[in-house]
Amino acid sequence: MSINSFGHLFRVTTWGESHGPALGATVDGCPPGVPITPEMIQHWLDKRKPGQNKFTTQRREADEVRILSGVFEGVTTGTPIQLMIENTDQRSKDYGDIMDKFRPGHADITYFQKYGVRDYRGGGRSSARETASRVAAGGLAREAIKAIAPGVQITGYMVQMGPHMIDRDAFDAREIANNPFWVPDAQAAVDWAEYLDGLRKSGSSVGAIIEVTAKGVPAGIGAPVYGKLDTDLAAAMMSINAVKGVEIGEGMSAAMLTGELNADEISAPSPSEDIVEIMLDGATLDGTGAYIVRPQNANDKERWFMVKNVHHYVPKDDGILLQVARKELNKRLISSGNLPVVIPSGPRYSSNHSGGILGGISTGQDIVVRFAVKPTSSILTTRKTITKTGEDTEIITKGRHDPCVGIRAVPVGEAMMACVILDHLLLHRGQVGENRGHIGPA
Ligand SMILES: Cc1cc2nc3c(=O)[nH]c(=O)nc-3n(C[C@H](O)[C@H](O)[C@H](O)COP(=O)(O)O)c2cc1C
Repeated sequence: MSINSFGHLFRVTTWGESHGPALGATVDGCPPGVPITPEMIQHWLDKRKPGQNKFTTQRREADEVRILSGVFEGVTTGTPIQLMIENTDQRSKDYGDIMDKFRPGHADITYFQKYGVRDYRGGGRSSARETASRVAAGGLAREAIKAIAPGVQITGYMVQMGPHMIDRDAFDAREIANNPFWVPDAQAAVDWAEYLDGLRKSGSSVGAIIEVTAKGVPAGIGAPVYGKLDTDLAAAMMSINAVKGVEIGEGMSAAMLTGELNADEISAPSPSEDIVEIMLDGATLDGTGAYIVRPQNANDKERWFMVKNVHHYVPKDDGILLQVARKELNKRLISSGNLPVVIPSGPRYSSNHSGGILGGISTGQDIVVRFAVKPTSSILTTRKTITKTGEDTEIITKGRHDPCVGIRAVPVGEAMMACVILDHLLLHRGQVGENRGHIGPA
């Protein structure tokens, strides 16, 4: 049974449990020649690491990744890659008084009903420590994606904590890394801090909604019927601990729309193949008709550059869409140390209710997935439960816990998106090669 694995070609198997000596991921099917170092993976693990601020569990784990196989002289060899993370702060005694009780909201009871064995140490395999392995695999997937589709950008952020939603009009992607909640709204970050601090002090917890987008995924990725991109994304997100709902694009709200409102209207692509589009954080006119542009996530001024021959300049919620001559843009991108490949211009859509996927296949628009996590079950309030021998009892969960697991679920959602996108890029390359369905004059 391969129930600890996911992915068709980029196949990830995770192993280990919360309080064992180590856990990790075995990745099979990664293309050879992908430059990778432990530091590249560590970057993403550090984002998920516990104990970074008062809003996440105080369990102190270094979450240091080691690459045990499949990489030689800094590149993947095409053979299985073993990623290992040692558990260094397992205090099993935190769980001693719950050995014979089932924690409500946890998988203690169902694992016992299924296997008849109780690993009471932090939930054993059902613990969200397992998600560290996914984040490690996701870090590797991100590097492999760069080699196949360099324009792809995967970003996760929180859009709701308990009853508090972000203000979509105040959405600023640059804010995501500036606060402990990965929230793209500066005011929400302030309000949420006060709200969550109150909950934390009272020993309670709250749920959240996380949105993960993948920009720059070429049109045509995915597969029909049983291999749909949205099917795989939904399964990937739903497999994360505490996730109770997943939606793509308009999701559940689509039920409230009419056909006129929901259908994303299509209009003709840019008249010339040589015109490409690029999303930017910012661009300003320098007075001579040239634009000074700031690529997304390029805080370093040296990576800003000047571009001429701009055909169109479209302000969007999360940046600026620039249509520009491909040759000009690539020249400027390379000389400023940015990636040369840009997203080819394609059909235009009036909106993105589809979440970038039609019939299980990407449209070339942003892929948008949201998932809801339930409130942390381990709370300091006494709850009713039963013992292994079936008697009624009560329980307080005293271990170290997150008041809102949504925070640390953000990098996990990003990792799952990266693994699924890479898997489908590889599947597409295997079956179709280059994109076939050219739209435009023959
Ligand atoms: C990153 C992350 C951290 C988590 N940390 C905790 C925690 O500290 N305490 C807790 O009760 N649940 C935590 N959870 C959720 C539990 O692991 C999860 O609710 C439990 O295993 C039962 O599985 P289910 O909710 O998916 O049914 C966390 C989830 C994630 C994604």
